[in-house]
Amino acid sequence: MEYKKFKEIEIYPARDLSYNFLGIQFENPFILAAAPSTDDLEMVRRGFQMGWAGAILKTTSVEGTKVDLCYPMMSAFEHEGRKLFGMGNIDLISEHHIDKVEYNVRMLKKEFPAKMVAASIMAGRKEDWQHLVERLEKAGVDLIECSFSCPQGNIGEDPGKMLAQSLSATELTARWVKEASKRVPISIKITPHVTDIVEVARAVKRSGCDALTASNSIQALMGIDIKTFAPTPSLDGKSTYSGMTGPAIKPITLRTIAEIARNVDIPIMGTGGASTWSDAVEFMSVGAGVVEFCTVVMHYGFRVIDDLNSGMSHYLDEMKFSSPKEIVGKALPNIVSHNELPRKRMRNHIHENLCIGCDLCYVACRDGGHNAIDQLENRIAHIDWERCVGCGLCKFVCPVDDCIEIMEWI
Ligand SMILES: Cc1cc2nc3c(=O)[nH]c(=O)nc-3n(C[C@H](O)[C@H](O)[C@H](O)COP(=O)(O)O)c2cc1C
Repeated sequence: MEYKKFKEIEIYPARDLSYNFLGIQFENPFILAAAPSTDDLEMVRRGFQMGWAGAILKTTSVEGTKVDLCYPMMSAFEHEGRKLFGMGNIDLISEHHIDKVEYNVRMLKKEFPAKMVAASIMAGRKEDWQHLVERLEKAGVDLIECSFSCPQGNIGEDPGKMLAQSLSATELTARWVKEASKRVPISIKITPHVTDIVEVARAVKRSGCDALTASNSIQALMGIDIKTFAPTPSLDGKSTYSGMTGPAIKPITLRTIAEIARNVDIPIMGTGGASTWSDAVEFMSVGAGVVEFCTVVMHYGFRVIDDLNSGMSHYLDEMKFSSPKEIVGKALPNIVSHNELPRKRMRNHIHENLCIGCDLCYVACRDGGHNAIDQLENRIAHIDWERCVGCGLCKFVCPVDDCIEIMEWI
């Protein structure tokens, strides 16, 4: 059989995306998050060769720590045909203890001196946290991330709880870690599952730690089989709460990063729901200095770095930004509290020439809006501007781009 030859797809050439963050030179803003992809030396090597700027090696612990994994550990939040809209996992920290991870750090720093090699750690006792920091520093690590937010809880006295859910435990433990570090920056990985994320960020800042990683997976019950009533992932019909990751959690992370950046002056590493270069731009625009990726790599492989580099390069050129650093915080002045929002009379406008008569806006407005859309004889939607308040619902149910516009009523 003869295969048709297609013209090679051209992608926008990647430009220099390097910049300094936390005193570390990053080749680009894209980092592999602590996850299965960073739990194996050979895999990280491959990620680096493909162009990732750095990696957070999966959370490790002192020798002898029991890591009792169970399988299957993954499940999917399928949404309207998109199978991995959200991914759930009941994974724990790495089964590799510090001896293995310090070896991996040494090898990676030797082979890839220009890459950012970080390691994630978790412990229960002060001496263990500090021991991990000391050994990783000696091994040559560039940054240490402390997991205070594994959805399955922490090691130690209160195993079901996440450390970052307690202000006092967060501050105390972060102080221990910072006390032990002589050279490398420390980032505390927190959870959005708290009443006030700003208070947590302030506790980390008070501890003297250098950065926050915001945030982590979202605790979730991924689904129930409605015949057997077994939750997913099902282990002989039983399950527990998963950590949900991937596109479904992006808005939660964006809010978490923004809320910290608006209130606390501390560098932020963004993680949770970023899949594309434009997601990274959004994360950075609300305050993230670099962006960590996990689920998209588990789904599509390390090669997504080509799209990230190419897309970011094109964006920077188009926006006439000289470095990714210029994006950081750009959207923050536009995030205000509800009472500071402008109060204007708005109306939706339907471009009737683009309307396909699908009914979606008509039904949504009739049963969930202000009953302000009629249908003309040919089912073309028509707005009753006397009833329309410009809520925007019709625009977001409409399948046709640009068919509905939200406009100021002048
Ligand atoms: C299977 C799996 C294992 C993970 N293991 C760790 C871990 O050991 N330590 C940690 O801090 N985060 C861990 N994470 C969380 C990721 O580092 C990341 O913060 C999270 O997946 C959100 O990013 P994403 O939406 O890009 O996947 C894990 C995530 C997954 C999916």
